[in-house]
Amino acid sequence: MRFCGVQAGTDVHLSSHLSKKQHFELPVPEVIQRRVSVRTYQPLPLPPWERSRLEEYAQLLEREGPFSPAVRFVFIDEDEYLAKTGRKIGTYGFIRGAIDYIAGIVERGDCALEQLGFVFEMLILYATSLGLGTCWLGGTFRRRGFEKTTGLGKNEMLPAVTPVGYAAQKKRAFEYAMKIASRPGRKPWKELFFNGGFDVPLGEGEAGPYRVPLEMVRLGPSTSNRQPWRVMKHGPLWHFYMAYSPMLNRAIGFDIQRIDMGIAMCHFELTAEELGLSGRWVIGREEAEGASVPGPRAGGGDAPGAEEASAPRAAGRLRYIISWQEMPPGT
Ligand SMILES: Cc1cc2nc3c(=O)[nH]c(=O)nc-3n(C[C@H](O)[C@H](O)[C@H](O)COP(=O)(O)O)c2cc1C
Repeated sequence: MRFCGVQAGTDVHLSSHLSKKQHFELPVPEVIQRRVSVRTYQPLPLPPWERSRLEEYAQLLEREGPFSPAVRFVFIDEDEYLAKTGRKIGTYGFIRGAIDYIAGIVERGDCALEQLGFVFEMLILYATSLGLGTCWLGGTFRRRGFEKTTGLGKNEMLPAVTPVGYAAQKKRAFEYAMKIASRPGRKPWKELFFNGGFDVPLGEGEAGPYRVPLEMVRLGPSTSNRQPWRVMKHGPLWHFYMAYSPMLNRAIGFDIQRIDMGIAMCHFELTAEELGLSGRWVIGREEAEGASVPGPRAGGGDAPGAEEASAPRAAGRLRYIISWQEMPPGT
């Protein structure tokens, strides 16, 4: 069985090409905690020097990510979009004031969406570290217009964009309503992290040096704030699963929650790297085989709240994604 283009259980190791250097001027956990979705912006273009810094970093990122599909970023401003499409940038009223956007484009292929999530989140965190606001948009933007403006190739997808700019001092009532609607809180540890089985929650004290990388996974952004990541510790392996919501992915038209998983991997790896924890991504044989029969448990259905079920119940619709293998220090 093949996962992400890799034969499960074979000796092929995926690893991101992250160089062992500090990416941001602030510690990674601080940047992750500073990032929030910003939906109301000061109506000002990005200063040219900030745009250049972002573009330079975006170019470096095009060689990053644990999987093989190539990612590229296109910076678009209002005027260019208008000139190429004859319309204004459309976000169905979700974003106000933003003039600049970044489109994330990925080559079609195995684990393309996880790859996009991982690499685009690095750019979003970099923007955050520069004091800029962003907001992942995977559903509420006019996809056609962006596809036209970016000259999307046949072998490419444009799953998400973000506005980028300075947050307005005052939020709109709409933004407060959005925050409430998407239940901005995060699920507690006991619903996300497990120790050897989905009926055994992993306590913060049992995570050892991986407490902070896991906490950074927990704080990540996700589609409709569903937080689909589930991580199970098994010896030196940390298995990542996705609590798949058929209804949500169907509504968007593609498996958008795979992007959420890429974001989770990004937070985990960047934080582990900063803490000096060595490791690599591997595709586990047993987990991959277990995941070949995902799907709702009998009677689970797509009823609202079905995914909010308790961990053991939710395990019925979990899909295995990847594992992090701890390595001896310095390897
Ligand atoms: C892949 C992805 C797609 C998203 N798509 C949208 C979107 O289309 N519109 C929107 O307003 N927010 C979108 N969001 C933002 C989430 O609603 C937000 O991350 C979540 O509610 C948590 O809030 P926070 O980002 O402020 O921490 C998306 C987030 C992710 C990760």
